[in-house]
Amino acid sequence: MSIALVILAAGKGSRMKSDLPKVLHQIAGAPMLVHAMKAGAILSPEKQVIVAGHGAEAVEAAAKAYDPDATVVLQEEQKGTGHAVIVTREALTGFEGDVVVLYGDTPFVQPETLERMVAARKDNAIVVLGFQADPSEKYGRLVMQGDTLEAITEFADASDEVRAITFCNSGVMLIDGKVIFDLLDATNNQNASGEYYLTDLVEIARNKGLSSTAISCDASETMGVNSRVHLAEAEAAFQARARQTLMEDGVTLIDPTTVHLSHDTVIGRDAIIEQNVVFGPEVTIESGARIRAFSHIEGAHVSRGATVGPYARLRPGAELAEDTHIGNFVEIKNAIIDEGAKVNHLSYIGDAAVGTKSNIGAGTITCNYDGVFKHKTTIGKNAFIGSNTMLVAPVTVGDDAMTGSGSVITKDIEDGALAIARAQQVNKAGMARKLFDMLKLKKKNISKGEK
Ligand code: UD1
Ligand code: CA
Repeated sequence: MSIALVILAAGKGSRMKSDLPKVLHQIAGAPMLVHAMKAGAILSPEKQVIVAGHGAEAVEAAAKAYDPDATVVLQEEQKGTGHAVIVTREALTGFEGDVVVLYGDTPFVQPETLERMVAARKDNAIVVLGFQADPSEKYGRLVMQGDTLEAITEFADASDEVRAITFCNSGVMLIDGKVIFDLLDATNNQNASGEYYLTDLVEIARNKGLSSTAISCDASETMGVNSRVHLAEAEAAFQARARQTLMEDGVTLIDPTTVHLSHDTVIGRDAIIEQNVVFGPEVTIESGARIRAFSHIEGAHVSRGATVGPYARLRPGAELAEDTHIGNFVEIKNAIIDEGAKVNHLSYIGDAAVGTKSNIGAGTITCNYDGVFKHKTTIGKNAFIGSNTMLVAPVTVGDDAMTGSGSVITKDIEDGALAIARAQQVNKAGMARKLFDMLKLKKKNISKGEK
């Protein structure tokens, strides 16, 4: 059966106290909306429709950045979850598969759970995802009769007896696409909130002889984000799960809670991640690499056997080949560091290529920016860059070439050459002592004058 994914994301999220639409707040570096889209991707949806309202333009941009084929429809006024699905009618014209409704602010529904919902569809027109909640929580209640879901009753509209039910509606629903809009047309807003409830579909379906069921999942999957506190809790939950998965896959995290991962971090088995390492988006660390303490890495690829840090910063476009060494207080940006090359101390290597087995001395800087344009530095194989060399790009250093420390290199260096670009040293005999004596005398005279 083909699937259409509908993600409700029109709400304002007032409790976030933010100018940003709620679903664009990030968890592990990706908007919550994208987490929901990623979860739904397991169903290989034929269509994906996002219902936007508050901050619709920004929501649309984020949705399309993740999936250019996503359709974004506008719900100008938020009249309820049922109304939000009604506005997808045009986008789903002619679609006859199943419609899965997710919320953009409930980012953790697990792909396997969605697959279980699809499996429960069988003769049911509707499958609802439920979870166990504390009776004090104000979620919609799932009124079950055996395996049959008879109704969903919103807390505000429920009797005490129904409020005592702890099996609650997560909001995730799978609905037969052939009947969904007929059922929605039968909803009204005669209830405690004055809204069109998506949850009313269950009873409407039952009255038409169509059955519904509910399956259960862990409450951690249905966690909704309504405030900054929830956002932090969601982040912590994501991090805990992602760290666990990495360790189960054979990655060593020496002190797991101090490692911060991105939604898309990829780390190969037998890699070792030391304490206090932060991964931004788009990082791949291959098997056996070691990331030492206090490093910050984003948009980078680290190959087998490489070591990074402590205190290293890899920025987008950092490409480290096998067995490279990037040491303390080194920043690498948009640069290829070829096999076995070393940049061990206090350097900035940006917009550059460093050849195999070259050694970059402490304090080397690629001067890549002239204030307007960025320029490239190319360093050949087996080169030796002396400490504190300034490489003023664009510039090329040949294979087996060398620079004297403290050089400011502005001209290309041919293969095998040594470049020294610094003032000649002059030693003046006795001059230092004379200077000291002069200065001490001056100090004495000043302090006399002060008395
Ligand atoms: C809803 C369910 C409730 C369930 C709870 C789980 C209904 C009527 N109630 O209640 O049974 O226990 O979720 O969290 O469905 N939205 C729109 N347009 C609207 C209204 C809502 O896009 O007009 C979006 C919101 O942005 C949000 C989601 O739908 O992402 C849920 O809406 P919300 O108002 O939070 O529903 P609840 O009252 O919490
Ligand atoms: Ca809610």
